[in-house]
Amino acid sequence: MKKVNLFFITMMLCAAVQAQNKLTVNVDLGEHTISRHIYGHFAEHLGHCIYGGFRVGEDSPIPNTRGIRNDVVKALRDIGIPNLRWPGGCFADEYHWMDGIGPRSERPKMVNTHWGGVVEDNSFGTHEFLDLCEQLGCEPYICGNLGSGTVEEMSKWVEYITFDGESPMASLRKKNGREKPWKVTFWGVGNENWGCGGNMTADFYADQYRRYAVYCRNYGENRLYRIAGGANDFDYNWTETLMKNAGARMQGLSLHYYTVPRTWNDKGSATQFDEAEYFTTIEKTCRMEELISRHSTIMDRYDPQKRIGLVPDEWGTWYNVEPGTNPGFLFQQNTMRDAIVAGINLNIFNAHCDRVKIANIAQAVNVLQSVILTDREKMVLTPTYWVFWLYRVHQDATMLPVALSCNRYELNGRGMDAVSVSASKDAAGRIHITLVNIDPNRAQTVEGELRGVVAENVTGKILTSAKLNGCNTFESPNTIAVQDFRDARLSKGSLSVQLPARSVVMLEIE
Ligand code: AHR
Repeated sequence: MKKVNLFFITMMLCAAVQAQNKLTVNVDLGEHTISRHIYGHFAEHLGHCIYGGFRVGEDSPIPNTRGIRNDVVKALRDIGIPNLRWPGGCFADEYHWMDGIGPRSERPKMVNTHWGGVVEDNSFGTHEFLDLCEQLGCEPYICGNLGSGTVEEMSKWVEYITFDGESPMASLRKKNGREKPWKVTFWGVGNENWGCGGNMTADFYADQYRRYAVYCRNYGENRLYRIAGGANDFDYNWTETLMKNAGARMQGLSLHYYTVPRTWNDKGSATQFDEAEYFTTIEKTCRMEELISRHSTIMDRYDPQKRIGLVPDEWGTWYNVEPGTNPGFLFQQNTMRDAIVAGINLNIFNAHCDRVKIANIAQAVNVLQSVILTDREKMVLTPTYWVFWLYRVHQDATMLPVALSCNRYELNGRGMDAVSVSASKDAAGRIHITLVNIDPNRAQTVEGELRGVVAENVTGKILTSAKLNGCNTFESPNTIAVQDFRDARLSKGSLSVQLPARSVVMLEIE
C-alpha cells in the first residue's frame, strides 16, 4: 500500500513539474511594430517555382490571369503576402534583366547553370514579375545582379522600372507597354556575394556594394530601401565589415540561414526521419535566435538607432530532394516538422522586430520550405502555409514583450525549451498569442498572465498532426489544416491553455 502511495505521489509531482509553463504577456509594454514584411516570400527561377508554380502561360487550361495561376495568387493573398523577393537567390547574380523584356518570342534563352542546367526562356521577366506582385497586392523585392552584371546594367534596371520622365530606359519601358513607372522600394544589391554571387571577400564586396548602391537612384517619389548582401549564417566578420565600411549607405543588411538536419552532402529526408533527427532539426532552427542576437549586437555598435534593418531574406528547411526528382530543382515535401520550424522562426523574428524588418522564407512554391506545392492543375497548401495563415494577425501589430518559463523537451541527454511564444496587439486592440509546442510526445499546460489589460474572451485556432511527418499530398491535400481550438480559458484575467503535443496555436483575446 505504501508503495502505491509513493507511486501516486511521484506521479503527482511529475504532473506538477509538467505544469510549470508560466507565461507573462506585457500588454502594457508594447513599443515596436512587427513589420508585415517579416512575413515575406521568395520566388526564384529554380525548379518549378516560377514555371509551373507561378507562370503557366496565357494558353494554359489552368485558370490564369495573364499567364499567372489564379489558385496560387488567391492562396498567397489569403495569407496576406506582404512582399515577394525575385529573381534569386543564386539565379539573381547571373540574371541579365534586359533578356526578360520585350516580345516574349524575341527574348534570348539562357542556361540556368545553378539550377539543373535547364533552358531559361526568359518568358517571365520584369513586367511579368511586377504584374504578379500587383495581382498579389504585395510589394516587389528585386535582387540585382552584382556578381556578373555591371553597374550600368543595375542602374538602368532601376531607371527602367521607376523613372517617370524622358529617358532612354523610361522610353523603352513605355515601348514595352508600361506607361507609368512601378513603385519598387526593396532593392537587393547582389545575393550571397561570399559564394554563388561572386565568391568575394567581405572587404571587396563592401567596396563593390558602395559603388553599385550609388547608381541605384531614387527617381521622383520612389525611395529605394537598398539591401546589402549579408552574411552566411555564423560569419560575423561579414556583418562587421559591411557595417563598418558600407553601413552608412544601406537601409538593410541580409542574412541567410537554412535549417539542415544532417550535413550539406546528405541533408536528410523531408518525410522519413526519427525523433532524434526531429530533435536536431529543431535544435538547429532555434539557433536563429543566436544568429539574430549576435548579428544585431554587431549592428548596434555601428547603428545604435537601429536605422538599418536586418533582413533574413532566405530561411527555412533544406532537405534531400524528393526521390526521383531533379536534384537541381530542390523539390521537397513539407510536414508538421516544417510547421513547427516556421512557427519558431516567426516567433523569433517577431521578438526582434526592432531590428528585423523584412524576412523571406525560401521559396514560395515547389522549392525548399514551400507554402504551396503544385503538380500541373493540382495545388496543395503545406503545413508551413497554415502557419503563415495563423500568424498573419501579427502583421503590422505592436509586439508585446513576453516572459516564459517553461518545461524542457529532452532527448538523449539534450534539451530545449518545449514552448515557443510570441504576442502582439493589433490596431483594433485585439491581442494575439502564437504558441508552438515543440515536444512531440507531451501536451503542455501554459498558465498565462496578461499584464495591463482586463480581457474577457479568448478564441483560438490550431494546427496539429497525429504524426510529426504528417503532410498534405496531391492525393490527400487536407490532411493537415487549421481547426478551431477550444482548450484555452480566461478566468479573472488569467489564461490557461492546453497545448497538444506537436502543435501550433494562435489565440485571439479581446
Ligand atoms: O534557396 C536556394 C539557394 O540557396 C539560393 O539560390 C541561394 O541564395 C542559397 O544558397
